[in-house]
Amino acid sequence: MILKTNILTPISPDKYKYIPHAFITIENTKIQSISSSGNNKNFLDFSNCVCVPGFIDTHVHLSQFHARGKHSSNLLDWLNKIIFEEEYRSKDFKYAYQLTKNFFLESIKAGTTTSVIYTAPYKHACEIAFKEAKNSGVRAIIGNTLMDTNSPDYLQEDTEKSINESIELFEKWNKSTDLLEYVFSPRFAPVCSSKLMRTIGAYAKKNNAYIQTHLSENIDEKKWVSSLFPAFKNYTEVYEKHNLLGPKTLLGHAIHINEKEIEIIKRTKSKIIHCPDSNFFLKSGIFPWEDIKRSGIDFALASDVGAGTSLSMLNVMKMCNYRQDNYVISPEEALYYATLGGAKVLGKEDIIGSIEIGKDADLTFIEIDNPREKSGTEILSTLLYIGNELKVKSTFVAGKIVY
Ligand code: GUN
Ligand code: ZN
Repeated sequence: MILKTNILTPISPDKYKYIPHAFITIENTKIQSISSSGNNKNFLDFSNCVCVPGFIDTHVHLSQFHARGKHSSNLLDWLNKIIFEEEYRSKDFKYAYQLTKNFFLESIKAGTTTSVIYTAPYKHACEIAFKEAKNSGVRAIIGNTLMDTNSPDYLQEDTEKSINESIELFEKWNKSTDLLEYVFSPRFAPVCSSKLMRTIGAYAKKNNAYIQTHLSENIDEKKWVSSLFPAFKNYTEVYEKHNLLGPKTLLGHAIHINEKEIEIIKRTKSKIIHCPDSNFFLKSGIFPWEDIKRSGIDFALASDVGAGTSLSMLNVMKMCNYRQDNYVISPEEALYYATLGGAKVLGKEDIIGSIEIGKDADLTFIEIDNPREKSGTEILSTLLYIGNELKVKSTFVAGKIVY
Protein backbone atom coordinates (compact mmCIF):
# COMPACT_ATOMS: atom_id res chain seq x y z
CA MET A 1 0.00 0.00 0.00
CA ILE A 2 1.28 3.48 -0.90
CA LEU A 3 0.12 6.64 0.88
CA LYS A 4 0.67 10.24 -0.18
CA THR A 5 0.84 12.69 2.70
CA ASN A 6 2.86 15.21 4.74
CA ILE A 7 4.89 13.56 7.49
CA LEU A 8 5.54 15.15 10.85
CA THR A 9 7.50 12.91 13.18
CA PRO A 10 9.43 13.37 16.43
CA ILE A 11 13.14 12.64 16.75
CA SER A 12 13.72 13.79 20.34
CA PRO A 13 11.97 16.14 22.80
CA ASP A 14 13.40 19.11 20.93
CA LYS A 15 13.74 17.83 17.37
CA TYR A 16 11.24 16.79 14.74
CA LYS A 17 11.28 16.06 11.06
CA TYR A 18 8.79 17.43 8.51
CA ILE A 19 8.58 15.79 5.09
CA PRO A 20 5.94 17.44 2.87
CA HIS A 21 4.58 15.68 -0.25
CA ALA A 22 5.90 12.33 0.93
CA PHE A 23 5.07 8.80 -0.15
CA ILE A 24 4.95 6.07 2.50
CA THR A 25 5.00 2.46 1.38
CA ILE A 26 3.57 -0.10 3.79
CA GLU A 27 4.40 -3.77 3.42
CA ASN A 28 2.37 -6.05 5.72
CA THR A 29 2.59 -4.34 9.12
CA LYS A 30 5.63 -2.14 8.54
CA ILE A 31 6.82 1.05 6.90
CA GLN A 32 8.93 -0.14 4.01
CA SER A 33 9.92 3.15 2.43
CA ILE A 34 9.51 6.90 2.80
CA SER A 35 10.30 9.21 -0.10
CA SER A 36 9.80 12.88 -0.71
CA SER A 37 9.07 12.44 -4.41
CA GLY A 38 8.08 9.75 -6.87
CA ASN A 39 5.93 8.83 -9.85
CA ASN A 40 3.48 6.65 -8.00
CA LYS A 41 0.04 6.38 -9.60
CA ASN A 42 -1.80 4.06 -7.28
CA PHE A 43 -1.77 5.63 -3.88
CA LEU A 44 -4.20 6.53 -1.11
CA ASP A 45 -4.36 10.28 -1.12
CA PHE A 46 -3.89 11.92 2.26
CA SER A 47 -2.23 15.00 0.83
CA ASN A 48 -4.67 17.29 2.68
CA CYS A 49 -3.50 15.79 5.97
CA VAL A 50 -0.54 15.79 8.24
CA CYS A 51 0.56 12.29 9.15
CA VAL A 52 1.87 11.87 12.70
CA PRO A 53 2.80 8.69 14.55
CA GLY A 54 -0.28 7.12 16.15
CA PHE A 55 -0.79 8.64 19.58
CA ILE A 56 0.17 6.60 22.64
CA ASP A 57 -2.05 7.03 25.70
CA THR A 58 -0.05 5.48 28.52
CA HIS A 59 -2.73 5.67 31.26
CA VAL A 60 -6.48 5.51 30.68
CA HIS A 61 -9.41 4.04 32.63
CA LEU A 62 -11.73 2.40 30.12
CA SER A 63 -14.13 1.81 33.03
CA GLN A 64 -14.56 5.57 33.47
CA PHE A 65 -15.21 6.62 29.88
CA HIS A 66 -18.90 7.32 30.56
CA ALA A 67 -18.10 9.22 33.77
CA ARG A 68 -16.00 12.02 32.30
CA GLY A 69 -16.69 15.56 33.37
CA LYS A 70 -18.55 14.76 36.58
CA HIS A 71 -17.50 17.53 38.86
CA SER A 72 -15.88 16.92 42.21
CA SER A 73 -13.51 18.90 44.38
CA ASN A 74 -10.66 16.41 44.79
CA LEU A 75 -9.41 12.90 44.04
CA LEU A 76 -10.71 10.98 47.07
CA ASP A 77 -14.13 12.62 47.00
CA TRP A 78 -14.42 11.96 43.26
CA LEU A 79 -13.45 8.29 43.62
CA ASN A 80 -15.92 7.75 46.47
CA LYS A 81 -18.87 9.71 45.12
CA ILE A 82 -18.61 9.15 41.38
CA ILE A 83 -16.05 6.69 40.14
CA PHE A 84 -16.51 3.63 42.31
CA GLU A 85 -20.24 3.62 41.55
CA GLU A 86 -19.57 4.04 37.85
CA GLU A 87 -17.11 1.13 37.83
CA TYR A 88 -19.72 -0.99 39.61
CA ARG A 89 -21.97 -0.57 36.53
CA SER A 90 -19.51 -2.76 34.61
CA LYS A 91 -20.53 -5.70 36.79
CA ASP A 92 -23.31 -5.96 34.23
CA PHE A 93 -21.97 -7.71 31.10
CA LYS A 94 -24.14 -5.72 28.71
CA TYR A 95 -23.07 -2.43 30.19
CA ALA A 96 -19.39 -3.41 30.15
CA TYR A 97 -19.68 -4.49 26.52
CA GLN A 98 -21.36 -1.30 25.31
CA LEU A 99 -18.94 0.87 27.29
CA THR A 100 -15.97 -0.97 25.84
CA LYS A 101 -17.25 -0.64 22.27
CA ASN A 102 -17.79 3.10 22.74
CA PHE A 103 -14.36 3.49 24.30
CA PHE A 104 -12.38 1.87 21.49
CA LEU A 105 -14.32 3.61 18.75
CA GLU A 106 -13.76 7.04 20.28
CA SER A 107 -10.14 6.32 21.03
CA ILE A 108 -9.36 5.33 17.43
CA LYS A 109 -11.34 8.36 16.21
CA ALA A 110 -9.05 10.51 18.34
CA GLY A 111 -6.05 9.03 16.54
CA THR A 112 -4.78 6.93 19.44
CA THR A 113 -3.20 3.67 18.29
CA THR A 114 -1.79 2.37 21.60
CA SER A 115 -3.53 2.54 24.98
CA VAL A 116 -2.47 1.34 28.41
CA ILE A 117 -5.76 0.57 30.09
CA TYR A 118 -7.29 -0.04 33.52
CA THR A 119 -10.61 -1.88 33.36
CA ALA A 120 -13.25 -2.10 36.07
CA PRO A 121 -12.24 -4.54 38.83
CA TYR A 122 -14.15 -7.49 37.33
CA LYS A 123 -12.54 -10.27 35.37
CA HIS A 124 -15.26 -10.27 32.72
CA ALA A 125 -14.80 -6.52 32.16
CA CYS A 126 -11.13 -7.14 31.41
CA GLU A 127 -11.96 -10.08 29.11
CA ILE A 128 -14.42 -7.91 27.19
CA ALA A 129 -11.75 -5.21 26.85
CA PHE A 130 -9.28 -7.70 25.32
CA LYS A 131 -11.90 -9.10 22.93
CA GLU A 132 -12.97 -5.67 21.74
CA ALA A 133 -9.38 -4.43 21.45
CA LYS A 134 -8.75 -7.43 19.22
CA ASN A 135 -11.89 -6.77 17.14
CA SER A 136 -11.08 -3.12 16.69
CA GLY A 137 -7.47 -3.78 15.67
CA VAL A 138 -5.80 -1.42 18.14
CA ARG A 139 -2.60 -1.95 20.10
CA ALA A 140 -3.39 -2.22 23.81
CA ILE A 141 -1.88 -3.14 27.14
CA ILE A 142 -4.80 -3.94 29.42
CA GLY A 143 -5.16 -4.83 33.09
CA ASN A 144 -7.86 -5.66 35.59
CA THR A 145 -7.88 -3.03 38.37
CA LEU A 146 -7.04 -4.60 41.72
CA MET A 147 -8.48 -3.45 45.06
CA ASP A 148 -8.82 -5.77 48.06
CA THR A 149 -9.07 -3.41 51.06
CA ASN A 150 -10.50 -0.04 52.17
CA SER A 151 -12.93 -0.13 49.25
CA PRO A 152 -16.73 -0.26 48.93
CA ASP A 153 -18.12 -3.83 49.37
CA TYR A 154 -19.42 -3.91 45.82
CA LEU A 155 -15.94 -3.43 44.32
CA GLN A 156 -13.60 -4.97 46.86
CA GLU A 157 -12.34 -8.38 45.82
CA ASP A 158 -10.99 -11.24 47.88
CA THR A 159 -7.16 -11.14 47.83
CA GLU A 160 -6.56 -14.70 46.58
CA LYS A 161 -9.32 -14.48 44.01
CA SER A 162 -8.06 -11.22 42.56
CA ILE A 163 -4.47 -12.48 42.36
CA ASN A 164 -5.57 -15.70 40.67
CA GLU A 165 -7.83 -13.93 38.22
CA SER A 166 -5.10 -11.50 37.20
CA ILE A 167 -2.73 -14.39 36.59
CA GLU A 168 -5.39 -16.20 34.53
CA LEU A 169 -5.95 -13.06 32.46
CA PHE A 170 -2.20 -12.63 31.99
CA GLU A 171 -1.76 -16.24 30.87
CA LYS A 172 -4.65 -16.05 28.44
CA TRP A 173 -4.10 -12.62 26.90
CA ASN A 174 -0.50 -11.45 27.31
CA LYS A 175 1.05 -11.52 23.81
CA SER A 176 -2.01 -13.43 22.59
CA THR A 177 -1.57 -11.37 19.41
CA ASP A 178 1.24 -9.05 18.28
CA LEU A 179 -0.82 -6.11 19.51
CA LEU A 180 -2.06 -7.20 22.94
CA GLU A 181 -0.33 -7.42 26.30
CA TYR A 182 -1.33 -7.61 29.95
CA VAL A 183 -0.50 -5.11 32.70
CA PHE A 184 -0.85 -5.98 36.39
CA SER A 185 -2.84 -3.11 37.88
CA PRO A 186 -2.94 -2.69 41.66
CA ARG A 187 -5.04 0.52 41.80
CA PHE A 188 -3.00 2.38 44.45
CA ALA A 189 -1.53 1.54 47.85
CA PRO A 190 -4.50 2.68 49.99
CA VAL A 191 -6.83 0.06 48.48
CA CYS A 192 -4.31 -2.79 48.14
CA SER A 193 -3.17 -5.13 50.91
CA SER A 194 0.53 -5.81 51.42
CA LYS A 195 -0.05 -9.39 50.40
CA LEU A 196 -1.72 -8.39 47.14
CA MET A 197 1.03 -5.94 46.21
CA ARG A 198 3.89 -8.30 47.10
CA THR A 199 2.44 -11.30 45.30
CA ILE A 200 1.52 -9.37 42.18
CA GLY A 201 4.92 -7.63 42.15
CA ALA A 202 6.82 -10.90 42.44
CA TYR A 203 4.75 -12.62 39.75
CA ALA A 204 5.00 -9.71 37.33
CA LYS A 205 8.78 -9.48 37.78
CA LYS A 206 9.24 -13.21 37.31
CA ASN A 207 7.24 -13.06 34.09
CA ASN A 208 8.68 -9.80 32.77
CA ALA A 209 5.20 -8.24 32.77
CA TYR A 210 4.09 -4.63 32.95
CA ILE A 211 2.80 -3.16 36.22
CA GLN A 212 0.81 0.05 36.56
CA THR A 213 -0.41 1.99 39.58
CA HIS A 214 -1.00 5.52 40.88
CA LEU A 215 1.59 7.41 42.92
CA SER A 216 1.26 10.61 44.94
CA GLU A 217 -1.40 12.37 42.93
CA ASN A 218 -2.99 14.23 45.82
CA ILE A 219 -1.90 15.50 49.25
CA ASP A 220 -4.69 13.73 51.21
CA GLU A 221 -3.93 10.49 49.36
CA LYS A 222 -0.28 10.85 50.39
CA LYS A 223 -1.27 11.41 54.03
CA TRP A 224 -3.54 8.37 53.91
CA VAL A 225 -0.65 6.23 52.65
CA SER A 226 1.61 7.50 55.49
CA SER A 227 -1.02 6.51 58.04
CA LEU A 228 -1.58 3.07 56.50
CA PHE A 229 2.14 2.29 56.02
CA PRO A 230 3.91 4.06 58.92
CA ALA A 231 7.00 1.85 58.62
CA PHE A 232 7.96 3.32 55.24
CA LYS A 233 9.81 6.58 54.65
CA ASN A 234 7.63 7.71 51.74
CA TYR A 235 4.92 6.63 49.27
CA THR A 236 7.41 5.47 46.62
CA GLU A 237 9.19 3.28 49.15
CA VAL A 238 5.88 1.50 49.86
CA TYR A 239 5.85 0.33 46.24
CA GLU A 240 9.56 -0.43 46.19
CA LYS A 241 9.39 -2.63 49.29
CA HIS A 242 6.36 -4.44 47.87
CA ASN A 243 8.27 -5.49 44.78
CA LEU A 244 6.34 -3.25 42.44
CA LEU A 245 9.05 -1.05 40.93
CA GLY A 246 11.18 -1.81 37.88
CA PRO A 247 11.71 -0.94 34.20
CA LYS A 248 8.22 -2.17 33.25
CA THR A 249 6.41 -0.23 36.00
CA LEU A 250 4.30 2.76 35.00
CA LEU A 251 3.61 5.20 37.85
CA GLY A 252 0.66 7.48 37.19
CA HIS A 253 0.91 11.12 38.31
CA ALA A 254 3.91 11.34 40.72
CA ILE A 255 3.18 14.98 41.53
CA HIS A 256 3.98 15.25 45.24
CA ILE A 257 7.28 13.40 45.37
CA ASN A 258 10.57 14.42 46.98
CA GLU A 259 14.20 14.01 45.90
CA LYS A 260 14.52 10.64 47.68
CA GLU A 261 11.52 9.32 45.78
CA ILE A 262 12.89 10.59 42.49
CA GLU A 263 16.10 8.73 43.34
CA ILE A 264 14.18 5.46 43.96
CA ILE A 265 12.24 5.79 40.71
CA LYS A 266 15.45 6.50 38.82
CA ARG A 267 17.40 3.66 40.44
CA THR A 268 14.66 1.11 39.75
CA LYS A 269 14.25 2.46 36.17
CA SER A 270 10.52 2.83 36.76
CA LYS A 271 8.59 5.18 34.49
CA ILE A 272 6.36 8.15 35.26
CA ILE A 273 3.10 8.92 33.49
CA HIS A 274 2.01 12.54 33.47
CA CYS A 275 -1.73 13.23 33.18
CA PRO A 276 -2.12 17.02 32.91
CA ASP A 277 -5.81 17.27 32.02
CA SER A 278 -6.67 15.05 34.99
CA ASN A 279 -4.43 17.14 37.24
CA PHE A 280 -6.36 20.25 36.22
CA PHE A 281 -9.73 18.58 36.70
CA LEU A 282 -9.05 17.28 40.21
CA LYS A 283 -6.85 20.21 41.30
CA SER A 284 -4.21 17.61 42.09
CA GLY A 285 -1.19 19.87 41.64
CA ILE A 286 1.52 20.77 39.16
CA PHE A 287 3.69 17.99 37.77
CA PRO A 288 7.39 18.69 38.50
CA TRP A 289 8.27 18.52 34.79
CA GLU A 290 11.68 20.13 35.04
CA ASP A 291 12.79 18.03 38.04
CA ILE A 292 11.68 14.81 36.37
CA LYS A 293 13.26 15.73 33.06
CA ARG A 294 16.50 16.69 34.76
CA SER A 295 16.53 13.40 36.69
CA GLY A 296 16.61 11.41 33.44
CA ILE A 297 13.57 9.30 34.42
CA ASP A 298 11.59 8.30 31.34
CA PHE A 299 8.12 9.80 31.35
CA ALA A 300 5.21 10.20 28.95
CA LEU A 301 1.79 11.75 28.61
CA ALA A 302 -1.62 10.22 29.17
CA SER A 303 -5.30 11.17 29.18
CA ASP A 304 -6.23 9.51 32.50
CA VAL A 305 -9.86 9.48 31.36
CA GLY A 306 -12.23 9.72 33.35
CA ALA A 307 -10.41 12.35 35.46
CA GLY A 308 -9.10 13.44 32.11
CA THR A 309 -12.01 14.80 30.12
CA SER A 310 -10.98 13.72 26.63
CA LEU A 311 -9.39 10.73 24.90
CA SER A 312 -7.65 13.12 22.50
CA MET A 313 -3.91 13.20 23.01
CA LEU A 314 -3.92 16.55 21.18
CA ASN A 315 -5.94 17.84 24.14
CA VAL A 316 -3.45 16.25 26.55
CA MET A 317 -0.56 17.92 24.72
CA LYS A 318 -2.22 21.30 25.09
CA MET A 319 -2.94 20.69 28.75
CA CYS A 320 0.66 19.72 29.47
CA ASN A 321 1.75 23.01 27.97
CA TYR A 322 -0.88 25.00 29.88
CA ARG A 323 -0.33 23.16 33.17
CA GLN A 324 3.22 24.45 33.62
CA ASP A 325 3.39 27.94 35.12
CA ASN A 326 7.01 28.73 34.28
CA TYR A 327 8.53 26.02 32.09
CA VAL A 328 7.65 26.49 28.43
CA ILE A 329 6.79 23.25 26.67
CA SER A 330 7.29 23.59 22.92
CA PRO A 331 4.98 21.99 20.35
CA GLU A 332 7.72 19.50 19.39
CA GLU A 333 8.28 18.52 23.02
CA ALA A 334 4.53 17.95 23.56
CA LEU A 335 4.34 15.83 20.38
CA TYR A 336 7.34 13.77 21.49
CA TYR A 337 5.81 12.86 24.86
CA ALA A 338 2.50 11.86 23.20
CA THR A 339 4.25 9.55 20.70
CA LEU A 340 7.91 8.49 20.82
CA GLY A 341 8.22 9.29 24.54
CA GLY A 342 5.22 7.01 25.17
CA ALA A 343 6.84 4.26 23.10
CA LYS A 344 10.02 4.66 25.16
CA VAL A 345 8.33 4.23 28.54
CA LEU A 346 6.80 1.03 27.17
CA GLY A 347 10.18 -0.18 25.85
CA LYS A 348 8.68 -0.12 22.33
CA GLU A 349 10.66 2.72 20.78
CA ASP A 350 12.12 0.34 18.19
CA ILE A 351 8.64 -0.66 17.00
CA ILE A 352 6.37 2.38 17.29
CA GLY A 353 6.33 6.08 18.25
CA SER A 354 7.76 7.66 15.10
CA ILE A 355 7.45 7.37 11.34
CA GLU A 356 10.58 5.53 10.26
CA ILE A 357 11.46 2.76 7.88
CA GLY A 358 11.23 -0.62 9.63
CA LYS A 359 8.80 0.52 12.30
CA ASP A 360 5.21 -0.68 12.46
CA ALA A 361 2.86 1.55 10.48
CA ASP A 362 0.88 3.06 13.38
CA LEU A 363 -0.19 6.30 11.74
CA THR A 364 -2.68 9.09 12.37
CA PHE A 365 -3.85 11.36 9.55
CA ILE A 366 -5.15 14.75 10.64
CA GLU A 367 -6.84 17.12 8.19
CA ILE A 368 -5.14 20.49 7.86
CA ASP A 369 -6.19 23.50 5.77
CA ASN A 370 -3.75 24.01 2.91
CA PRO A 371 -0.86 22.01 4.37
CA ARG A 372 1.25 22.87 1.30
CA GLU A 373 1.34 26.50 2.30
CA LYS A 374 2.52 25.80 5.84
CA SER A 375 5.83 24.98 7.44
CA GLY A 376 6.30 22.04 9.83
CA THR A 377 6.60 24.50 12.71
CA GLU A 378 3.27 26.14 11.84
CA ILE A 379 1.54 22.79 11.57
CA LEU A 380 2.99 21.61 14.91
CA SER A 381 1.79 24.74 16.63
CA THR A 382 -1.69 24.31 15.14
CA LEU A 383 -1.80 20.70 16.35
CA LEU A 384 -0.87 21.79 19.85
CA TYR A 385 -3.17 24.76 20.33
CA ILE A 386 -6.09 24.20 17.95
CA GLY A 387 -6.03 20.41 17.86
CA ASN A 388 -9.58 20.26 19.21
CA GLU A 389 -10.87 21.83 15.97
CA LEU A 390 -9.03 19.38 13.71
CA LYS A 391 -10.48 16.18 12.33
CA VAL A 392 -8.72 12.84 12.39
CA LYS A 393 -9.30 11.52 8.90
CA SER A 394 -7.89 8.03 9.36
CA THR A 395 -6.00 5.86 11.82
CA PHE A 396 -3.73 2.92 10.94
CA VAL A 397 -2.39 0.28 13.33
CA ALA A 398 0.35 -2.08 12.16
CA GLY A 399 -0.42 -1.25 8.54
CA LYS A 400 -4.19 -1.80 8.78
CA ILE A 401 -6.84 0.89 8.49
CA VAL A 402 -8.76 0.76 11.78
CA TYR A 403 -10.62 4.04 11.26
N1 GUN B 1 -6.06 6.87 42.12
C1 GUN B 1 -6.62 5.66 42.38
N2 GUN B 1 -7.56 5.36 41.47
C2 GUN B 1 -7.60 6.38 40.62
C3 GUN B 1 -8.38 6.64 39.45
O1 GUN B 1 -9.22 5.86 39.02
N3 GUN B 1 -8.13 7.82 38.81
C4 GUN B 1 -7.21 8.71 39.26
N4 GUN B 1 -7.01 9.85 38.59
N5 GUN B 1 -6.48 8.48 40.35
C5 GUN B 1 -6.67 7.34 41.02
ZN1 ZN C 1 -5.55 6.95 36.68
